[in-house]
Amino acid sequence: MPTRAQNRFVFVALAFLLAAAPSFAQESHIGRWTGHAEAGKQLYFRYCWGCHGPRGDGNGENAPYLNILPRNFVAATFKCRSTPTGTLPTDEDLFESIKRGLVNSNMPSWIELTDQQRADLVAYIKTLSPRWQSEKAGTPIQVPSEPKVNLDGLRRGKEVFTKLECWKCHGQEGRGDGPAAASLTDSNNQPIHPYDFESGSRFKCGTTNNDLYKIFMTGLDGTPMPSFADVIKPDEAWDLVHFLRTLQVTHKSPELTLWQSTKEGAETVKAARTSGTPTGSGN
Ligand code: HEC
Ligand code: HEC
Repeated sequence: MPTRAQNRFVFVALAFLLAAAPSFAQESHIGRWTGHAEAGKQLYFRYCWGCHGPRGDGNGENAPYLNILPRNFVAATFKCRSTPTGTLPTDEDLFESIKRGLVNSNMPSWIELTDQQRADLVAYIKTLSPRWQSEKAGTPIQVPSEPKVNLDGLRRGKEVFTKLECWKCHGQEGRGDGPAAASLTDSNNQPIHPYDFESGSRFKCGTTNNDLYKIFMTGLDGTPMPSFADVIKPDEAWDLVHFLRTLQVTHKSPELTLWQSTKEGAETVKAARTSGTPTGSGN
């Protein structure tokens, strides 16, 4: 017969194990919000599991009908990160993706939830993959402050776009129709289309120039869109950001206005407008 002291030890040990069990202990920290996995689980089984699946592996009952499959939270490979390619995103990154939604996919924006609810969901998502137990989030990349836009910068940005062969997938005019575009597949073996700058204004991973900088310096993991952090220097990266804005001919920006003030720019923008079919699908 175990003694009372032994019983007590077993009880304390069990209580400790339960408390430490990952699915209960997981938290997220976003600004002043602390997210709790138990609360997040309730929300997940109300709003998310139909697509992302009861186990979070992306196999929800709606998944077969979607062109881009819902994220597999067990594999934990994420597109929108402030952290280097191959690493886990920060809590903020996930929080922002949930709030923003992912354009050109069926992932809705969850703007109507509260910040606390989104933080709770982040905490729960992190219980779904063993990766969060063995790895920490990556260290966010440094984004140097943005230089002023000028014509020389736009021209240099265009050279970077050519030299690094962004056009192979995105096309010379950025319409998502480069020579490699038709044959691209993602990590689920589904066809995936390069971003069409001509008709889009927002990106999956944000809307600002800062977001754009991070997109090609961290890559969209799980897709053919690579990280260019090893080959683009920070000042070149800003030139490229500014040049990419000139490809968004249906989206007003200081870069586009400046570009259109040149003969070369005015001609390319006009040609794009008359030949393109801005359907608004990317907005
Ligand atoms: C109608 C289906 C649908 C529902 C409902 C849905 N999602 Fe998604 N979600 C998707 C799809 C599809 C993707 C993948 C989009 C892509 O890869 O471009 C995705 C991707 C994500 C991502 C990955 C972002 C990244 O950076 O890779 C997160 C996080 C996410 N969803 C969270 C949620 C949460 C939390 C909920 C519930 C509040 C939810 N989703 C509900 C379809 C859905
Ligand atoms: C091998 C093909 C390939 C190359 C090369 C490539 N991309 Fe992409 N890019 C893609 C694909 C595919 C997507 C769409 C991924 C998705 O929707 O999940 C994409 C998406 C993007 C997006 C939108 C991301 C978002 O959040 O919506 C930007 C911006 C972008 N690429 C910029 C660039 C730049 C700049 C270069 C060159 C430095 C480049 N890409 C080179 C394939 C490529």
